Amino acid sequence: MRACFDDYVQSFAKEGVGLAAPLILKQQHSERVAQECRELSSGLGWPEGLQRSAEALGLLHDLGRFSQFAQYHTFADGSSVDHGERGYEIASRCKQLSRLPDAERTAILEGIRHHNDRRILEELDGQSMDFLRLIRDADKLDIYRVVLEAIDLDGFQELPKMLPQINLQRRPSPEILDELLIHQSCSFERLRTLGDFLMIQLSWIYDFNFPMALRQVHDREIPTRLLKHVEGDARCAEILEKVQRFIRDRLARR
Ligand SMILES: [Fe+2]
Repeated sequence: MRACFDDYVQSFAKEGVGLAAPLILKQQHSERVAQECRELSSGLGWPEGLQRSAEALGLLHDLGRFSQFAQYHTFADGSSVDHGERGYEIASRCKQLSRLPDAERTAILEGIRHHNDRRILEELDGQSMDFLRLIRDADKLDIYRVVLEAIDLDGFQELPKMLPQINLQRRPSPEILDELLIHQSCSFERLRTLGDFLMIQLSWIYDFNFPMALRQVHDREIPTRLLKHVEGDARCAEILEKVQRFIRDRLARR
């Protein structure tokens, strides 16, 4: 599966130049999400075979990003293609996947297809649902790492190259804050500034599925580290406080 992933990714490298910088980020992100999936599934006590399949899902979940970027020069699904659906189509043709038991193959494929849905798809059955919940948590954990590292490095200069509608201003838009205060979520397509982007990342915490993953959010101090980079007002502090209360309550209920 790893060889299949490496070959596919390298097919987007340009002669003498290699992979475009945003695609290198996605390649490294995929590797780390695979590791997050492995660690979460191991902590959840999944059998060894399922841990390996969970790791494969982590590695393959963003397959659709590569052809999306090559074709449209953006990672914005709204103005290009649903990268979950695109990844599903690519992975469906992967021979290595067809050697797995049917339920595991389906769980990996459905995990790729729906990992980026705004809300979790409730219709999936047991194993597919477990895999989908896992990949959504593992993906978010690593996205936090990518974002925080990129801001520390250079203020996230790559962001407008990946999502051209977003500028690097750290002040959130008032209408985004209003929506987050009322609905605790906001459509990705409406984001305009880095401040908006960081605030929506904070709101993703409400979507975590496994307390074990939420524990990582807590231990890595994700909420305060995200907010540190936002030029916010009292409403941002209010949103942060609500998120932190949610984490405390959820972990106390374990
Ligand atoms: Fe993705």
